[in-house]
Amino acid sequence: MDAIILAGGYGTRLRPLTYTRPKPLLPVAGRPMIEWVLDRLPPEVSRVIVAVNWKAQALGAYLQNRPGKAARDRRTFIVVKEDEPLGTAGAVKNCEKFLTSDSFFVLNADIVSRMDLGAMLKAHRAARAVGTIALKEVPLADVVNFGVIQPGATTPAGTTTIQGFVEKPKDPALAPSRLINAGAYLLERRVRSLIPAGKMVSMEKEIFPQLIPQGFHGFGIDGPWIDVGDPKRLLDACHTLDAHFKAGPEFRLGDHATFTGSVAGKGCTVRASAHVEGCVLGDGVTVDTGVHLKDCVVGDGEFVRDSATAQRIWTKPVPAGYPASQVGNAL
Ligand code: GTP
Repeated sequence: MDAIILAGGYGTRLRPLTYTRPKPLLPVAGRPMIEWVLDRLPPEVSRVIVAVNWKAQALGAYLQNRPGKAARDRRTFIVVKEDEPLGTAGAVKNCEKFLTSDSFFVLNADIVSRMDLGAMLKAHRAARAVGTIALKEVPLADVVNFGVIQPGATTPAGTTTIQGFVEKPKDPALAPSRLINAGAYLLERRVRSLIPAGKMVSMEKEIFPQLIPQGFHGFGIDGPWIDVGDPKRLLDACHTLDAHFKAGPEFRLGDHATFTGSVAGKGCTVRASAHVEGCVLGDGVTVDTGVHLKDCVVGDGEFVRDSATAQRIWTKPVPAGYPASQVGNAL
């Protein structure tokens, strides 16, 4: 069975970390984000098609040569490059010629969770759905950030029929429930023909509504679930997965320096009497003696000389081709 991993976003909300690395390779509690997603794949999945765009080469190189235990993963990886971002459904269409199975998974590359995709596959098959999406219940105030479903009946297969889908409701009062699209879905082959080729198409806005009359189901998931879209949620994900995680290898903390509620990549130094709080540091960052950083995101290789609060710290030019604002959410 095939799984498509959507890994082509720019991750603009995580800049400047994503200036130098594709979002799926940003470390979460010491492992690239995409590894947490690959962990969730059930044994039925033997081929993984990764839809990439920004920093495609870096992601392809990583997948060809995964370190540690991951090197023993016998799955086949196919990296499919988009010349420009095609949106969540356009990316699936672009991978069509590599799909070999009738049912296939589509997974966002930036969801850290313990969702049971094997159970979802069983329920999807038993319900004979055309599409099944993983559903997570979130607090009402959070629904505005996600696609929200209108639930129908519960089926004997353990799924819920979906009667409506509202992508990012403007107000929580407009949301039909607190059940959101958890960024993992199973689709049947015929869904592919609903997606026009060669253009930007949103799965959530343009394709899901068409599935409702054809048998569109949801499958509830339990346990931790974090959409690692912005720095705060990256910190949450690190601390949820490993409450003691602070930094990658070769981390140096000087005398009387503090490093709290923060994470750092590899080879970072926080010099004497510096204080770092609520920050995300990329690889090879140095925070100079006595500097106070609060709620900052610091790009790879930066040397931070001045104290700052709520800043994105990056002193080099923004890489060519990186967008000035979010791309996918504009759809
Ligand atoms: P922001 O720029 O911060 O919004 O991040 P993003 O570009 O990653 O967008 P978002 O978080 O909404 O994307 C959710 C998932 O879909 C991520 O795993 C992205 O990599 C992926 N994704 C978004 N747009 C595209 C696209 O156009 N093509 C592909 N292949 N993947 C995409």
